[in-house]
Amino acid sequence: MKILITGGAGYIGGTAVEIMRGQGHEISILDDCSTGHVDTIPKDVRFVQGSLLNPSEIADALTGTDAVIHFAGKSLVGESVDKPALYYSVNVGGTRNLLDEMYKAGVKKIVFSSSAATYGEPLQIPIPESATTSPTNPYGATKLAVDQMITTESRTRGLAAASLRYFNVAGALHCDRGWLSERHNPETHLIPNILCSSVENPVKIFGSDWPTADGTCIRDYVHVIDLIDAHIKALDSLQNELHEIYNLGSGDGYSVRQVVAAACEAFGHSIATIDSPRRPGDPAVLIADIGKARTGLDWAPTRGIQAMVADTLASFN
Ligand code: UFG
Repeated sequence: MKILITGGAGYIGGTAVEIMRGQGHEISILDDCSTGHVDTIPKDVRFVQGSLLNPSEIADALTGTDAVIHFAGKSLVGESVDKPALYYSVNVGGTRNLLDEMYKAGVKKIVFSSSAATYGEPLQIPIPESATTSPTNPYGATKLAVDQMITTESRTRGLAAASLRYFNVAGALHCDRGWLSERHNPETHLIPNILCSSVENPVKIFGSDWPTADGTCIRDYVHVIDLIDAHIKALDSLQNELHEIYNLGSGDGYSVRQVVAAACEAFGHSIATIDSPRRPGDPAVLIADIGKARTGLDWAPTRGIQAMVADTLASFN
């Protein structure tokens, strides 16, 4: 299949490029490289350095495409609070442009990177796809707006679509060009921050008074390779005029201290931490109900927290 991967120079999109090209798909990439890295792009894929805000660049990237996997977008919760207009412009406006150009080009299949941030503060744990969506930050609000836009697009223009609501993505893929890993600047995610910490620069634990067993926040981590596997299954499952939404996590929760403990094991030594104030906007517990992806996509995560930490560590060395 000829697949356009938007955001294919990024951490998750780049992992998708590598795995899907290895399966024999013909891949094109559209990426503005605002946060992605050109050096991760394989030489044998078509790369359009362009923006979702520029319809002619999208049209160029879509040439000959059968399906789109749409990763491109702004993805930092904190930044979205500071710059909501940027998030609405790129995530919502940019996806609007993409859907319009797909329609013009007759491309009728899309798999979209949505987020657990669409749910906001959960009323039930684990969180099913039927849970109330009430995002607590602009990032989550833009992902929800796109999910809703895609639902309309599938009803009115016959789009075959899936939105995949990621919980906490971690880990890395090793390929012949080396490790494809998280390289954010600034880095806000827990596992890379733990691995980059030192005695002089201990990892901050954002809140130790949460209503959880050890007082720290609980999250649901999914390995990036398992995550891409779900995208491939979602792409295969698409049906005209239908928009399905699936949670992607592991279905298990780990506290911040448990993740630090897993990292200590991978390192083989202790890790310095410092209890710090709560980070604004963090919910106490986020755990996915992944029953729909298990049954609907015949998907199951196969790599646990230890593999995620070990692979991230290996990718940093
Ligand atoms: N944390 C720390 N110290 C750090 C970094 C994080 O204690 O240095 C804590 C956070 O407070 C949180 C947990 O570790 O409790 C995980 O934090 P991350 O920043 O790694 O991930 P988030 O859960 O905040 O965010 C992730 C995705 C978002 C998505 C969100 C959905 O990165 O894109 O899940 O809830 F919106």
